[in-house]
Amino acid sequence: MYDVQSIRKDFPILAREVNGKPLTYLDNGASAQKPQVVIDAITQAYSMEYANVHRGLHFLSNLATDKYEAVRGTVARFLGAADENEIVLNSGTTEGINLVAYGWAMPRLEAGDEIILSVMEHHANIVPWHFLRERQGVVLKWVDVAADGSLDPQAVIDAIGPKTKLIAITQCSNVLGTMVDVKTICAEAHERGVPVMVDGSQGSVHAPVNVQDIDCDFYAITGHKLYGPSGSGAIYVKKERMAEMQPFIGGGDMIKEVTKDGVIYNDPPMMFEAGTPGIVQTIGMGVGLEYLMNLGMENVAAHEASLRDYANAKFKGLNWLNIQGNAPGKAAIFSMTLDGAAHAHDISTILDKRGVAVRAGHHCAGPLMEHMGVSATCRASFGLYNTTEEVDVLVDALELAHELLA
Ligand code: ALA
Repeated sequence: MYDVQSIRKDFPILAREVNGKPLTYLDNGASAQKPQVVIDAITQAYSMEYANVHRGLHFLSNLATDKYEAVRGTVARFLGAADENEIVLNSGTTEGINLVAYGWAMPRLEAGDEIILSVMEHHANIVPWHFLRERQGVVLKWVDVAADGSLDPQAVIDAIGPKTKLIAITQCSNVLGTMVDVKTICAEAHERGVPVMVDGSQGSVHAPVNVQDIDCDFYAITGHKLYGPSGSGAIYVKKERMAEMQPFIGGGDMIKEVTKDGVIYNDPPMMFEAGTPGIVQTIGMGVGLEYLMNLGMENVAAHEASLRDYANAKFKGLNWLNIQGNAPGKAAIFSMTLDGAAHAHDISTILDKRGVAVRAGHHCAGPLMEHMGVSATCRASFGLYNTTEEVDVLVDALELAHELLA
């Protein structure tokens, strides 16, 4: 049984007050809170087990290396990858997508080649592709979402043309919560010889993921949204794509030999991990992923689906509240505006006075904001430890905001 009250006790911060009220943390889309096991792992790593990895022959270096390298296997298990050598460890999704842009796409794409994106991509899955547009004349093709925020996989497939070289798409919108059928997109895209990169920043947090089942070419995750430390992350790269990639960031650790005349690179995935990595962050991420696997991602997904349904039922009674896009089967992420001129920042400030943490702004999703015709929304994003009582607190705080701002 999923005992949310006992799970909450794993997260010390949830017991604190904010502005004299119990904390209601609904900003999980931006970053999730950390369970005690992750905090303890970080403390243990820094206080008793710290040294640089892959470099030393001494006890602590070997210990830190073993702990760090074990995370590669943990990520592979979490994502259902067949081989841990298909996992590149990094600082998060942004770095992962930049690796695909610089390491795979830049050397292969020419002026006029196309990359397909949806309008609900996060800037992390837009800006690296703009680099290719600016520098190499690559064309970005945008696929719209429907009025309810859903994305028809067929619309993505229909956008494929003879010049399409890549589809770069989110599995879950950080603004709308829309879940995208990336499995269908991959199957159809592969039929047409087009690889697919999935931004799993949000998708991996809200549903079980199996990259072999999805059959994507790349799948990027970020540790801090997965209840681990910031500055940690990973990207799954299918073996065939890994063999096609060129190194992106050069430096120590990604080489076997360097002379005045040349470089012999390390084997993948190490070839794509230059410099001293986020050692402790990565170790912490591994513990966060183990925590999630112990809970069972299907149980987390079921719990969050019940929160989504409860929240939607409550929101129905608020005829001045607009939920931007509310696609069936979406994650428990709600982007809200109020009737009238209330600004998202003002709403969020009033909510904060009630101890409710939400994000207000454009959510790093400029094209989606433009598509929705709004400059900002107030976003409540639920996580595995949230409760229906917290939905009630949110609704009361929204009523107050409406009263004060209408
Ligand atoms: N990508 C994060 C968000 O959606 C920061 O808030």
